[in-house]
Amino acid sequence: MCGIVGAVSSRNIVPILVQGLQRLEYRGYDSCGVAVYANGLKRARSTERVAELLSQVDKEHLEGSTGIAHTRWATHGAPAVRNAHPHFSHGPGKDAASKPGRVALVHNGIIENYEELRTRLQARGYVFVSQTDTEVICHLVDSLYEGDLFEAVKNAVVQLQGAYAIAVFCKDEPHRVIGARAGSPLILGVGRDGAEHFLASDAMALAGVTDQIVYLEEGDVVDMQLGRYWIVDKAHKPVQRAVKTVQAHSGAAELGPYRHYMQKEIFEQPRAVADTLEGVQGIVPELFEASGKHGPGAGAYQVFKEIDSVLILACGTSYYSGCTAKYWLESIAKIPTQVEIASEYRYRDSVPNPRSLVVTISQSGETADTLAALRHAQAQGMQHTLTVCNVATSAMVRECKLAYITRAGVEIGVASTKAFTTQLAGLFLLTLALAQAKGRLTQSEEAAHLKAMRHLPAALSAVLALEPQVISWAEDFAGKHNALFLGRGLHYPIAQEGALKLKEITYIHAEAYAAGELKHGPLALVTSEMPVVTVAPNDALLEKLKSNMQEVRARGGVLYVLADADSHIESSEGIHVIRLPEHYGPLSPLLHVVPLQLLAYHTACARGTDVDKPRNLAKSVTVE
Ligand code: M6R
Repeated sequence: MCGIVGAVSSRNIVPILVQGLQRLEYRGYDSCGVAVYANGLKRARSTERVAELLSQVDKEHLEGSTGIAHTRWATHGAPAVRNAHPHFSHGPGKDAASKPGRVALVHNGIIENYEELRTRLQARGYVFVSQTDTEVICHLVDSLYEGDLFEAVKNAVVQLQGAYAIAVFCKDEPHRVIGARAGSPLILGVGRDGAEHFLASDAMALAGVTDQIVYLEEGDVVDMQLGRYWIVDKAHKPVQRAVKTVQAHSGAAELGPYRHYMQKEIFEQPRAVADTLEGVQGIVPELFEASGKHGPGAGAYQVFKEIDSVLILACGTSYYSGCTAKYWLESIAKIPTQVEIASEYRYRDSVPNPRSLVVTISQSGETADTLAALRHAQAQGMQHTLTVCNVATSAMVRECKLAYITRAGVEIGVASTKAFTTQLAGLFLLTLALAQAKGRLTQSEEAAHLKAMRHLPAALSAVLALEPQVISWAEDFAGKHNALFLGRGLHYPIAQEGALKLKEITYIHAEAYAAGELKHGPLALVTSEMPVVTVAPNDALLEKLKSNMQEVRARGGVLYVLADADSHIESSEGIHVIRLPEHYGPLSPLLHVVPLQLLAYHTACARGTDVDKPRNLAKSVTVE
């Protein structure tokens, strides 16, 4: 999604700004731009890749020591150069449309009251040259400017409703960039000897530039100048924020032998799961100890004893890992569990239960809907919060009282893979920890589960070795327009995740159903042109699932079955079977999802789509 980089230095910062954008590319964007102070406001913008922006910048010899840059993921207004950031103020006065004013600005987020602000600013003579909500902030800052940009920004942001992270500079104060955030992440980077300063929406943008990072908090406004910076909080009181040393990954991780990051990340799963479980010797509440800004509070043990239910909040793939965990939490820990799509929960009239453990699941830890759902739950008096998250420095970890940090490593491909399996590993541990706190886990059960978890990396590697068989399925899928995915019980969310993967990167319409639902409607869709993927491990529902498969075959549907060593399903006419080497009990979802990831990946390759950056999608969804 949108990305911000900003800098104040005494050297030319254009290469840093553009490289920063390149590091944020994986998040998804449809236009990009950079603006600097060079005896006035100068900028380059493009609806192509950042590489094209770079050649524009080189051609035009754009250089400067103060500047801002942006990758835009369109919300208000089409992906067009006129809507790309940075925006310049225009007005008030004669020739305002053709003459840029003094303020340049980039913005992540959505301004909800932009129409009202636009009407007001138009009445004052400001001219709008884009269709974005962002342009109102630019004009608003300009309209409030009386020689001090920091003051102008502080006075502007109090008028904004919605979510924003902004970086702004003004041609009248060339060595100053102001940043502000509310609802969208923004960090400050302290550079060489504290003399230069940077802003970014993600520490990854500054990898190799500085590892000295300040995480700005909700409502903060920062004034960056040469050799000094200054932060005020949402009440505009001066505050000190800790400078942390953050080893941000450059994001330009080598592809090695892989064609795409998604393929690399699928094959990293044995290591990612091993890293996530590293050091887990036994099930102890300390695995989920306090993180974030809360400091010491009720420890995990006390919280786990006290809660009577679990409420899981997440989006997309993370939501499906939550749906899988519900089966574990109810069958192993016997704890009533509700899983909610974060974007629905945040606006729904629900019945809060202060004794519920609110569990957010997020790869990025910055998903706007999940953060808002968490805050909604907290505002309703639900204070027991825990996150399973892949980014230790994220807002999600800072805002939850307890955390389990998955160690998937940076995930670049927009389609989430290793984040999902590591989330499942973390959620399985959480299930065992809750079961133990409630006295529902015997020592021998704990030992058996731990043994199975330790064997997971090897089991995952064995499943990855099935890739050639999946490639032959992908050849069949490449020419299809629709696909159905079926699963039951624990594997219904896995079927849903498989369908999501396929639609995200191949653009084939795919739907998942709990197989028992087939005859209640979707069976009408089944013809010989409809591939039906069935997740069929040997679990308690296998015989029922086999009946559902017969229903498909009887209508001419072609089955693609992911069985396991004990499923006793053979390939025959219209039934293609891939057999996973082992039957894996409750942890089987971690294995069965892998061929589904590979199926989506190889089908996308066969169709020639942009696997790592599928159309319209962003890696980190920081707007609602
Ligand atoms: O960073 P998060 O886990 O909070 O992201 C949630 C979803 O946006 C994400 O899982 C999305 O559905 C992926 N593109 C799925 O592959």
